[in-house]
Amino acid sequence: MTLQMGAGILGVGMAVPDRVVTNADLEAMVDTSDEWIVERTGIRQRHVSAPDETSSDLATRAALAALADAGIEAGEIDLVICATTTGDCLWPATACLVQHRIGAGHAAAFDISAACSGFCYGLAIARDMVLAGTATRALVIGADTLTKHVDWTDRTTCILFGDGAGAVVVGPCEAGRGILASELRADGSKYEAVWLPAGGTRRPLTPEMLAAGQGKLAMHGAEVFKFAVRIMGEISLSVLARAGLGPDDVSLFVPHQANARIIAAAAERMRLTPDRVMRNVERYGNTSAASIPIALTEALAAGRVGYDDVLVLVGFGAGLTWGANVVRWSRGD
Ligand code: ACO
Repeated sequence: MTLQMGAGILGVGMAVPDRVVTNADLEAMVDTSDEWIVERTGIRQRHVSAPDETSSDLATRAALAALADAGIEAGEIDLVICATTTGDCLWPATACLVQHRIGAGHAAAFDISAACSGFCYGLAIARDMVLAGTATRALVIGADTLTKHVDWTDRTTCILFGDGAGAVVVGPCEAGRGILASELRADGSKYEAVWLPAGGTRRPLTPEMLAAGQGKLAMHGAEVFKFAVRIMGEISLSVLARAGLGPDDVSLFVPHQANARIIAAAAERMRLTPDRVMRNVERYGNTSAASIPIALTEALAAGRVGYDDVLVLVGFGAGLTWGANVVRWSRGD
């Protein structure tokens, strides 16, 4: 079947908190060093939300920026998807708050929980809903404030994460362009590789647990690292094949920004030179679902994406989940 229309990215936007925490700041908090953090992760600083600054605040700012970039009014949006694991409340969806705040009164709204893969999942869902005619113009937002779930006395995790939000507007574009293919995967047998063990229905937080510093993010770093190095290249090649393309066709690789070594391994697997790889993990750390749309927004601002360019957006995260999208850029940037 030849589709008469594509679904493409019409606008992008991002938002990060003002407060910057450098590696030197962390040296004063835990037994770590700038040298260790840079060598093992590539991270030099991260933005950390204020106590009263939530994922919906950052999501709203990013969404408004994406709408302005697309030249679209909120009233024209009929779907808001927010990928987040750090919603303002356990429920209802943070997407509903954003829908209200931006004034998208005609839009359906829901969250998806796929951790750092959430944006890739959301983009695939939005594309399919636009192509199916269920939605016309969708906002896909990745927003997380994982620093609120981090144990700031645990040097193995607190150095990794930052807060932020990125958003894109997805809508009709010419056939053969836009989001060409998506691939989404999960492996629930690794549910506990990186997770928030307490605070849900299985293990509700009690005052004793809170006093003991529980209820924070837990991670088997080495296991996640090995998994990420294996699947990032694998799924990127696979999703490219779905689109009838190969690594030589890639203009810009936009991976989840978790660790510079993971990005380098994936780029090597695909034989991509650094000029074809977007990297900003040094300035933001791992912003979870926000990292890919933030990286995309910065790549566009830097003039690294042009009409007809082929982009691979690829993420991995808790679940474990992973996902990738191939985009043939449809805007004349
Ligand atoms: N500063 C100094 N030393 C440290 C620090 C630190 N911040 N953290 C750990 N170390 C020590 C360890 O204690 C260990 O010491 P030992 O040898 O005496 O036991 C040593 O450094 C090596 O530790 P490793 O864990 O083996 O270090 P590694 O090279 O694996 O790097 C890291 C750790 C950076 C966490 C890496 O495993 C990683 O990036 N994993 C992937 C994490 C990730 O991407 N998570 C995303 C989750 S996605 C989501 O959905 C939230």
